[in-house]
Formats: sequence, C-alpha cells, structure tokens
Amino acid sequence: MAMIEFQNVTFAYEDKPVLRNVSFSVAQRESLVIMGPSGSGKSTTLRLILGLECPQEGTVFVDGENICKMAEKDKRELRKKIGMVFQAGALFDSMTVGENVGYYLLEHTDLSFEEIGERVRKMLGFVGLNADEIIDKLPEELSGGMRRRVAIGRALLSTNPKIMLYDEPTTGLDPAAIENILRLIMKLHDEKEIATVMVTHQIADAFAVADRFVVIHDGEVAFDGTLEELRASTDERVQQFLEPFRKSFTKVANSHFINGL
Ligand SMILES: Nc1ncnc2c1ncn2[C@@H]1O[C@H](COP(=O)(O)OP(=O)(O)OP(=O)(O)O)[C@@H](O)[C@H]1O
Ligand SMILES: [Mg+2]
Repeated sequence: MAMIEFQNVTFAYEDKPVLRNVSFSVAQRESLVIMGPSGSGKSTTLRLILGLECPQEGTVFVDGENICKMAEKDKRELRKKIGMVFQAGALFDSMTVGENVGYYLLEHTDLSFEEIGERVRKMLGFVGLNADEIIDKLPEELSGGMRRRVAIGRALLSTNPKIMLYDEPTTGLDPAAIENILRLIMKLHDEKEIATVMVTHQIADAFAVADRFVVIHDGEVAFDGTLEELRASTDERVQQFLEPFRKSFTKVANSHFINGL
C-alpha cells in the first residue's frame, strides 16, 4: 500500500493556482525526489502531505487516510508518523542544540529531564554529532551542515517516522557537508524502513537518493519514473529542466560517491 498518494490534486493559495491535477504515490521504503523550477509547487506539495494545506480538488492520502478529512486529534496522531526537515533546516535560534532536539519530549511527554537528556545525546550521536561538544551551543555557533543534522535529529525525536520529508536539505552546504547529509538521509531510509520524499534543485543529490523522480512543471507532473526513464524522457519540459545538468548527467550518475552509497 502507498504511504503517500496524491489523487488528481488541484491546489491554489487563494487566487494563486499552484498544483493542477497532480497524481503520484510513494510506497513504504521507497524514496521519491521531487524536482522542478523555483515556484513550481514543491514545498507546497510537502505542506499538503502534512495536511497544513488542503486541496480544492482531489485527495491526499497519508498512510491510507485522507488527512484533510480527519479530526484535529487524529491529524496530530498521523503527523507523529511524519518527520519534516524544513527548507533551510529551521531551528529555534534562542534555544540550545539540546533544547531544540529535546523540545518535543519536554513539551509533550512526562519523561524526566535526565531521560530526555539521554535520548537527546543518543540522537545527536545517531546523526553523527558529538553531543558533549555541541549540546549546550546555540544554532548560530554551528556550521550549516551541523545545523541540518540537528534539524534531522529533532525531527526524528519529535516523531516516530514512517515518512521523512526533506525540503532542500543540502542547500547552502559545502560538498563534504552535502555528502554527509545525503549519507545520513540514506542511512535513515535504510535503517528505519521509511518512505522518503526529498525536494531538491541539486541533480546530484537527486541521483544519490531517489528510487523514483517526479518533476513538477507549471503545477503539473511533467515526469514520474526511474533514472533510466528520466534520461530517456523526450518531454520538452523535462528536457528543458535537465538541460543545465546535461554535461554532468552521466558523470554524476556514474560517480563513485553515488555508486558507493
Ligand atoms: N502561503 C502562501 N500564500 C500565497 N502564495 C504562496 C504561499 N506559499 C507559496 N506561494 C506561492 O505558490 C507558488 C509555489 O510555491 P512553493 O513554495 O511551493 O514553490 P517551490 O517549488 O517550493 O519553490 P522553491 O524552489 O523556490 O522553494 C509560488 O508561486 C509561491 O509564490
Ligand atoms: Mg520550496
């Protein structure tokens, strides 16, 4: 069964049409990458999966449920199955790393302070950070890559995800940090058996992570398929989108890093 399914979804912000008749699905354990020009509706698609917006037409199913038809309480329960890493990995600036990662547990559980501290430290280790060094630091004292890891750790400790959503998780990072974040995303995907949806502008990131690709163009699904199908696509909108990457296409797809993942 699909973990996420869009059935003929049409969505507009007030008078601004964004998605038109969009259908796609993501199976459990599958990783889907959504690509498309700026403003094409990628972040909006993630907001629809979270039920933060509802379509004017069509249906969004998450784990078999129409998220827009659910009572608030059930929606909150369903959201616990979804980990979200927002565009630019937003953290609470005035809170320490430890408070950021443990925020949900502090606010919503009866766990003791010690127990929460322990879980936070374990999570920081899981996302590849040295807890002793950074747990009392503020986000501004961390590098961009570290902040992104903290954001992923926070998402994981706030939910027990069957679905992870990433909105441009590598933007603004240097190549080594990008590689590290992609490895972490793939590790999570493999170890936790979750459905992964990643939005990216970076074709190399997309190739590293995706089982399948969806390209959104002007609010419509211009492409939905595998890497081989993407390469072979003759759709003009896909060609146009891929053109800037053509030179690196084969190189990236065959690169040691991606094959080694
Ligand atoms: N809250 C909002 N109210 C009104 N319009 C919005 C809102 N959020 C986004 N939009 C508009 O909807 C369209 C799609 O936005 P969205 O953020 O989904 O694009 P995107 O594909 O994620 O772009 P980018 O690659 O730049 O992040 C854009 O034209 C944007 O200006
Ligand atoms: Mg966006």
